[in-house]
Amino acid sequence: MSLKHKVCVTTGGTSGIGLATVRLFAVEGARQVVLAKDKPECDALVQEAGTRGWQVAVVVGDVTDPGAWDRVLEEADLLGGVDVLVNNAGYGIQGTVLETGPADWEALFATNVTGAFLGCRAIVPRMIAQGSGAVVNVASVAGQIGMPRRAAYCASKAAVLGLTRAMAVDHASEGVRVNAVAPGTTDSPYFSKIAADVADPVEYRRYLEGRQLLNRLADASEIAAAVGFLASDASSFATGSVVTVDGGMSVA
Ligand SMILES: NC(=O)c1ccc[n+]([C@@H]2O[C@H](COP(=O)([O-])OP(=O)(O)OC[C@H]3O[C@@H](n4cnc5c(N)ncnc54)[C@H](O)[C@@H]3O)[C@@H](O)[C@H]2O)c1
Repeated sequence: MSLKHKVCVTTGGTSGIGLATVRLFAVEGARQVVLAKDKPECDALVQEAGTRGWQVAVVVGDVTDPGAWDRVLEEADLLGGVDVLVNNAGYGIQGTVLETGPADWEALFATNVTGAFLGCRAIVPRMIAQGSGAVVNVASVAGQIGMPRRAAYCASKAAVLGLTRAMAVDHASEGVRVNAVAPGTTDSPYFSKIAADVADPVEYRRYLEGRQLLNRLADASEIAAAVGFLASDASSFATGSVVTVDGGMSVA
């Protein structure tokens, strides 16, 4: 899955699945732009990239802010264009519809759905102009099945899958492939934040592990591997596809 000579943009590339993706892309030879909102995490990535000799420009900003995408484009243009966009930034909240306030619903959709939409609006024209490109949306198995007390999250990730399919149809003839990865529960700082909020984190982790046929959480690198496949020419005949990497959760 070589990404040599490719310029890749990844959102939320400073933590969890995004960081594992950025590390994989760097090893595969990509030059990169990362957009993420947490300044200390961004500083840590700049330092890691410097130490390892990776070419990674980091933009501190929010995927819901069109101005942040302008800065991403400026950095990408310095690298000579954009070949890959990974819309990874996102988060989940717990709750049924009745337990979810409208403001929390809207904030979640702004990041998980509108953020990806704005990213595509910014980057895909560059891909169309060069006649090639790959968009990879990080959705979730929660977008494919119902899960208890995850109403807003399930709906937002189903929207990401809908966006993926619609864009695959619209942009195939322009050389742009659009695919998604649907991870199962993955060990990441995001997961740790959720676990910290429950009464018995150890029992909760056991429950989440038990939902997946492989009886464990995914390592972020196992999700990044699927992102890398869809980002690279190894998946040159895939568009509108969803690669589910959920330890078998959705087939049980
Ligand atoms: N961890 C899981 O179990 C799991 C499962 C399925 C899908 N996912 C999805 O994978 C993606 C990454 O999740 P993770 O577990 O690695 O999370 P994480 O919390 O470890 O990392 C999220 C990253 O996104 C960034 N981010 C969040 N909101 C942002 C915003 N509005 N603008 C810019 N950056 C923003 C954060 O700064 C961070 O770098 C998310 O879309 C999540 O929904 C995660």
